[in-house]
Amino acid sequence: MKQRFLLAKEWVAQMGEYLREVTSQPFDFSTKTGHQDIVTAHDKKVEQFFRDSILSYFPQDEIVGEEFSGKTGTGSGIRWYIDPIDGTTNFVRGLNQSAISVGLYRDGTAEYAVVLDPFKNELFSAQRGGGAFLNGAPIHVSDRPLSKGIFGMGTAIYNREFEEQTMAVTAQLFARSCDFRRMGAAALDLCYTAAGRYDAFFEFSLAPWDYAAASLVIREAGGRICTMEGEELPLTRCGIWAANPVNFPILKELSF
Ligand code: IPD
Ligand code: CA
Ligand code: CA
Repeated sequence: MKQRFLLAKEWVAQMGEYLREVTSQPFDFSTKTGHQDIVTAHDKKVEQFFRDSILSYFPQDEIVGEEFSGKTGTGSGIRWYIDPIDGTTNFVRGLNQSAISVGLYRDGTAEYAVVLDPFKNELFSAQRGGGAFLNGAPIHVSDRPLSKGIFGMGTAIYNREFEEQTMAVTAQLFARSCDFRRMGAAALDLCYTAAGRYDAFFEFSLAPWDYAAASLVIREAGGRICTMEGEELPLTRCGIWAANPVNFPILKELSF
C-alpha cells in the first residue's frame, strides 16, 4: 500500500506540472449535465494518465474517477478515488484554485490521501494513523470557535435543488461567524479546514472523488467530518459537514 502512496505522490507531481503548463494556453471546454457542469480535454487527459499508470502497476485495483466509468479490476480490495481536476470552472477561468485529488482505500477504509494544488505548490497528504501534512509539515485543525472564525462553503451547483437549503445554512452560519469563502474547489476547501485556515465547511452535494482523499486529511488533522444528516460518509454523493471539534456540534443547531 505504501508503494501506491509514493507512486500517487509522483504521479500528482507529474500531472501538476502538466496542468501548470497548459493553463496558460487556450483550450476548449464542453458541458456535461448542464451549463455549469464543464469538462476539458485536460480533465480527461489527467484521469487517463492515472488509469493507465495505476493499471500498469496494479491491474487488480479498482478506480473510481470523475470522467470515466469503465470497469477496472476488483480483485485487490484496493480502490482509488480520483478527481483529475477539482475546480474545473476555476481552471477554465484562469483562477488558479484547483487540485488533483487521489484517495486510496482498502476494503472501504481510507488509508492514504494526496491532494495537490499545482498553482500554489501545496501538497496535502495523510496516512491513516500517521497524521496529516502540508508539504511534509504536520497540520492540525484550528481550535477557533466559529464566532471568531470563518467557514468555507460550496453551492452544490450540479444539484440546484439544494439552493434554498444552501442559502439558509449560509445565512445561519454567517450570522454566527466573522465571514465565509466560496473558493470553488471542494477538495481544497476540506484541506483548508484541516490546516486551520477555515474553521468549518459545508456543501449539500459532493461526489466521492471530491471528498474521499480530503476526508482523511481532515480526520488525521484532528478534525471531524460527516454528512449533512450527521451520518458516516457513505462514499456516494452526499452533503458534507466538516469542522474542528469546537464547531462540529453546530451542525445539530442548523435548520434546513
Ligand atoms: C466541484 C468543485 C466545487 C463544488 C462542486 C464540485 P469539479 O468539482 O469542487 O467547488 O462546489 O460541488 O463538484 O466539478 O470542479 O471537479
Ligand atoms: Ca470535484
Ligand atoms: Ca473534477
